Amino acid sequence: MPMEFDFDEIIDRRGTGAMKWDKYAGRDVIPMWVAEMDFRAPPAVIVALEQRAQHGVFGYTDPPAELNEAIVAYLDRTYGWRIEPDWLLWLPGLVSGLNLMCRAIGEDGDDIVTATPVYHPFLSAPAHQRRTLTRVPMQVQGERWTWDLERLEESIAARSKLLLLCNPHNPVGRVFDREELTRLAQIAERHDLIVAADEIHCGLVLDEDKAHIPFATLGADVASRTITLMSASKIFNLPGLGCAFAIVSDPALRSRLLRAAAGIVPRVNLLGFVATLAAYRDSAQWHRALLTYLRGNRDLVLQRMRHISGVTVAPIEATYLAWIDIRRLAPADPVQFFEAAGIGLYDGRAFGTPGYVRLNFGCPRPLLAEALRRFAAALVRPPIA
Ligand SMILES: Cc1ncc(COP(=O)(O)O)c(C=O)c1O
Repeated sequence: MPMEFDFDEIIDRRGTGAMKWDKYAGRDVIPMWVAEMDFRAPPAVIVALEQRAQHGVFGYTDPPAELNEAIVAYLDRTYGWRIEPDWLLWLPGLVSGLNLMCRAIGEDGDDIVTATPVYHPFLSAPAHQRRTLTRVPMQVQGERWTWDLERLEESIAARSKLLLLCNPHNPVGRVFDREELTRLAQIAERHDLIVAADEIHCGLVLDEDKAHIPFATLGADVASRTITLMSASKIFNLPGLGCAFAIVSDPALRSRLLRAAAGIVPRVNLLGFVATLAAYRDSAQWHRALLTYLRGNRDLVLQRMRHISGVTVAPIEATYLAWIDIRRLAPADPVQFFEAAGIGLYDGRAFGTPGYVRLNFGCPRPLLAEALRRFAAALVRPPIA
């Protein structure tokens, strides 16, 4: 691996205001909770930011035309998805995008449907926008988490207007296949639902025999009812730069979103645009190296967890997140339990599913190995005196 992509390097993030690390300032706890990686951004991104900083004038900035063109080219090259530049709506983040969807679609008191577990802002956004939320628990078939389509269809009511889909899925790590997505699309069509497809993890597919399928590419009707949310932030590790985009092919839907955003959603900061352009256009080699590294980390997690009795890890097809079933151990407070052992995890309760923890393995392997050692040690019963 070239030195410029030394993912093994442990970069000290303490004292940089890093939320992930500051949570445990002054404590010997390895932070593996919030979904960001501890790697330096791709070299092309760093150079682009340095050059822009040298210019020294940081005025209000529109999305550069070359950025729109870079996204159009990236989606075509990666997914064979042909979009028009004017389908892109720039946003300061996906969470504001999710809230915006909930605000723009339907009226006060209408219903939004999603499946749990899921990334927690899916669960809070509807109420923020005076909508109700219907949660349909996912089902586990073998080891595989999947939508319970029958239950989903039964749960859809007259006031259901929006379906929130996370694919690839945080936290269960699934890359939904064409059949699963097509059946979801059929349900959306039958009940005339708009679909908000959060595809922020699309560039993090780890299984080499799987591929991300953008929901909107399933057909013309599907595209016209879909709002896709994407960002370079997870894939290229730029979450602090606040830059994301929605892809909306239907002009009426686009207008609704723009109206709902007016005066509330700020424009994207210019460094976010600069970094996003350098990521999609100039960082393919870094991205390939990252995926290779993350596959190694994933394999280490699975291999170590296999030897720990009482826990099981869902297959990790995508993302740098491991979804770990600890129901058989059932500590009263899983986060505190693992913090006491020196690892900071996310409680499954936040995602709507207690009895699980989420472990972020997007970090240098030596740190991961130490965290996994601590995880195992926490579960070894102390000898009886
Ligand atoms: C599925 C999903 N959507 C959105 C986000 C956050 O997006 P943003 O930082 O752009 O608000 C995350 C971060 O963990 C995520 O996993």
